[in-house]
Amino acid sequence: MGRERSGPPERRSLAARSATITVMIRAAFAAAKGLKRDFGEVEQLQVSEKGPGDFVSRADLMAERVLRAELSRTRPEYGFLGEEGGETKGDGRNRWIVDPLDGTTNFLHGLPHFAISIGLERDDEIIAGVIYQPISDELFWTEKGIGAYVDTPNARSRRLRVSGRKDPARAVVATGIPHMGKGDHSAYYAKLAAVGARTSGIRRWGAAALDLAFVAAGRYDAFFEYGLAPWDVAAGVLMVREAGGLVSDMAGGPYAVGGPSILATNGGLRDTMVGMLA
Ligand code: IPD
Ligand code: CA
Ligand code: CA
Repeated sequence: MGRERSGPPERRSLAARSATITVMIRAAFAAAKGLKRDFGEVEQLQVSEKGPGDFVSRADLMAERVLRAELSRTRPEYGFLGEEGGETKGDGRNRWIVDPLDGTTNFLHGLPHFAISIGLERDDEIIAGVIYQPISDELFWTEKGIGAYVDTPNARSRRLRVSGRKDPARAVVATGIPHMGKGDHSAYYAKLAAVGARTSGIRRWGAAALDLAFVAAGRYDAFFEYGLAPWDVAAGVLMVREAGGLVSDMAGGPYAVGGPSILATNGGLRDTMVGMLA
């Protein structure tokens, strides 16, 4: 990847970004415009039901259309996997993995916690990721071997590091609670009870991409969930690892993007979390 120093004009970064990450950030900003507008008019959105607890809105579709157009315009040879539009084959080496709106339920309820997530996979490995939260205007980005960073309205390209907490009694743990029609509720609640009894708090904010970005930022000490799709996690998994964290399945085994369970932790808590989740 060729490196360049200039980010999008509205958000010039101190850290050197590759041309590829700049393309990803531009696409996220373009899609965020529509999401912000639609969030402001959330009551007027035409919403159709996709399945219990899993809604697709006009905003998701529009955002994915913008992301697909922006990303394909600059990298026409790359494949594309989007939550809403499915897979478009590309050169067989490079593939965008996109969730145009992670946190749809929040969005539809007027809760300002949702994000656009873009991962870039090359030769079956995620090499770059962008997670953009349009309402807080926090831009999380990462590249393999370069690190993980956040740009906020007040700070540019601050390096992300996972937290250093080792004591579960001081840890805040994020999770995704299975909703109606999804997952094995009794098995999940047994794990939740075990974690709740030994940690200082559990959070369920409803956007897995942001859960992972927040682990990378050291805000959460760990995150676990069942049943996430590749677009929920592609960018976030690299972000956690580049911030010094660990990602595995809940048993501590290797995690494949989109695998049945995920556990993301800081370096010191993994074994304790695996024990609690056993
Ligand atoms: C959902 C969110 C949520 C997680 C769900 C995902 P969506 O994505 O990431 O936190 O618990 O499993 O499906 O539907 O809002 O893109
Ligand atoms: Ca999602
Ligand atoms: Ca989504």
